[in-house]
Amino acid sequence: MAYTVPQITDFSTSALDSAVRELLSALDQESAAVASENDWKVFRDRWMARKNGILTQINDLWLKGAPGPNKRDVGQRVNELKARTTETVERVKPRRVRVGAIARPEGVSAKAQVGRAYAIGETPLDITLPGICRPIGAEHPVIKTMNEMIGVFRNLGYSVEEGPEIETDFYNFEALNFPPNHPARDTQDTLFIAGQESKPLRDRLLLRTHTSPVQIRTMQKTNPPVRVVCPGKVHRNDAPDATHSPIFHQIEGLAVDTNITFCDLKGTLDHAMKAMFGSSVKTRFYPSFFPFTEPSADVQISCIFCGGTGTRDGAPCRNCKASGWIELLGCGMVDPNVYGFVDYDPAKVSGFAFGMGVERIAILKYGVDDIQLFFQGDVRFLEQFG
Ligand code: PHE
Repeated sequence: MAYTVPQITDFSTSALDSAVRELLSALDQESAAVASENDWKVFRDRWMARKNGILTQINDLWLKGAPGPNKRDVGQRVNELKARTTETVERVKPRRVRVGAIARPEGVSAKAQVGRAYAIGETPLDITLPGICRPIGAEHPVIKTMNEMIGVFRNLGYSVEEGPEIETDFYNFEALNFPPNHPARDTQDTLFIAGQESKPLRDRLLLRTHTSPVQIRTMQKTNPPVRVVCPGKVHRNDAPDATHSPIFHQIEGLAVDTNITFCDLKGTLDHAMKAMFGSSVKTRFYPSFFPFTEPSADVQISCIFCGGTGTRDGAPCRNCKASGWIELLGCGMVDPNVYGFVDYDPAKVSGFAFGMGVERIAILKYGVDDIQLFFQGDVRFLEQFG
């Protein structure tokens, strides 16, 4: 009897386990039976067709039907099943042989050969079949946003620097003026690498919590003037939800030269926000604190959903909580203490730095309502950015 997706009413762990087991055993059996290209197409469509394929059915019957408290568990299982199925379908796909691999027998014209050329296996080769069409991928929205932002700063004369994701305490904290045991470290929810206790604190490894360590690495290897943007992945011990992810991306900026002032910082970021979100966007600098900048500010932009009015269609705007402003990034003038760690003379140079979350910008730009969508690899989401 062919497998059919059951409706689930009992969402207990054991019931879900057995539903998953049944589905996987059907997947194994059916994939083992794939013997020809045609079998494979039928198999692929039965499992992956968007309309009523088995994956769509488990989404509808299992995930959508799950009560609130079970959603996450069921969602995880459904995602795993999707990954397993995609991988299995790809694995059992019959490979075709290239035409070029077959030599033409002597005395046979190219056309006559068509009827008698055989593939390396037992399957005759029909070169009149359409070729294997590789779908063209789309740039991931996070990378797209990142490249767009980098483009804005390249046009201002900035270059790009990168740094490691596994950092030392020194670069992630100490050189950025977070002293050991300083409470500001707590705001960063750091993931530490185990087994580092025997090393001095400054050498212990961790997953960088921000891209700011690249400021230090850049200043250590270049003399001023410096103008760089540093894109990259960062990690924090945050539980995932619609607005948080333990892995996300930031773009850091750093400009150090003689006579750089807060005006330069404001002008640069105001320009960048207008370039990203449109020329009618306004910026507002709100006092804040970071150990490595002084003074520090959070930059807000006028709400792009309600035009900064705080109301939309007669109701309070939900995107800016009716305030008319959306907070977007952190910035400030490089704290003179930081120059001490990289042998710059704070009496001679000054500069500014800023750091922004890429997913957050992408969410606003594309109206995405759940940050998790960026990491789930669902092509139906991703192909919208093609
Ligand atoms: N690194 C800070 C953060 O992740 C952002 C920031 C960067 C603030 C540069 C000021 C200057 O929260």
